[in-house]
Amino acid sequence: MSYQIIDGKTISKEIKEECRMKAEAYKEKGIEITLAVVQVGSDPASGVYVRNKKRACEECGIRSLSYELPEETSEEDLLALVEKLNADDTVNGILVQLPLPEQINENKVIQAIEAKKDVDGFHPMSAGALFTGQKGFVSCTPAGIIQLLKRSGIEIAGKECVVVGRSNIVGKPVALLLLAENGTVTVCHSKTADLREVTKRADILVVAIGKPKFITADYVKEGAVIIDVGIHRNENGKLCGDVDFDSVAPKCSAITPVPGGVGPMTIAMLMSNCIASVDL
Ligand code: GUN
Repeated sequence: MSYQIIDGKTISKEIKEECRMKAEAYKEKGIEITLAVVQVGSDPASGVYVRNKKRACEECGIRSLSYELPEETSEEDLLALVEKLNADDTVNGILVQLPLPEQINENKVIQAIEAKKDVDGFHPMSAGALFTGQKGFVSCTPAGIIQLLKRSGIEIAGKECVVVGRSNIVGKPVALLLLAENGTVTVCHSKTADLREVTKRADILVVAIGKPKFITADYVKEGAVIIDVGIHRNENGKLCGDVDFDSVAPKCSAITPVPGGVGPMTIAMLMSNCIASVDL
């Protein structure tokens, strides 16, 4: 079977270009959009993400403010910064890069961010809005997955959608979004009794389990659409996903590569949330 590569690099560029045009239109009306990016400590992966987020802001004409705090920052000091940014009317979005050092309670920090500035979509108010179908920020990776499907011409309504993984950041929200698009949704996870039996039912299979090349051809129905959220580095330093691409691709109708699939969409949707923050 010939398969379509779902090209996240190209689609994310389209979305960023749309954001750039919207930001420009706001600027003409005298509205400048500002994202505050907070990083605590110097985790190398976080450093790369934060740099990429700030670069995307530049590309889109969104102002970014950078706060780099030392590893030993207290929870109190971080909460004080969040409060200051909440009160600052020139700041539209606040992003605190995770993970945080162990002396800081992540949930406390996430809840301290004003819901109307929660461009990551991690606040319980944002999660609750998604749950109840109200207006709110949707976390970026799940929102990006829906855009990948829609912009690749893949119909969700009526399809068997299976999500592997149940995290607050990906599994649970992507399941709710697929449901909102009228998919028939099953969520499975590491304790699912017969995972293969469930994933083989999927017309659309979203994999976010965090295990390299875990999903092989025998987990996949002929002609399925595969969305791979995982990102790992193998022993040769090469990137791979949760899906064993070489074995799965020939069996499916469309698949996201790693890299260049879901990854670039996360930052594009962050830009989109920053634009949306103006009138949320
Ligand atoms: N750490 C890994 N991914 C993310 C993300 O999307 N947002 C934040 N704030 N931290 C992260």
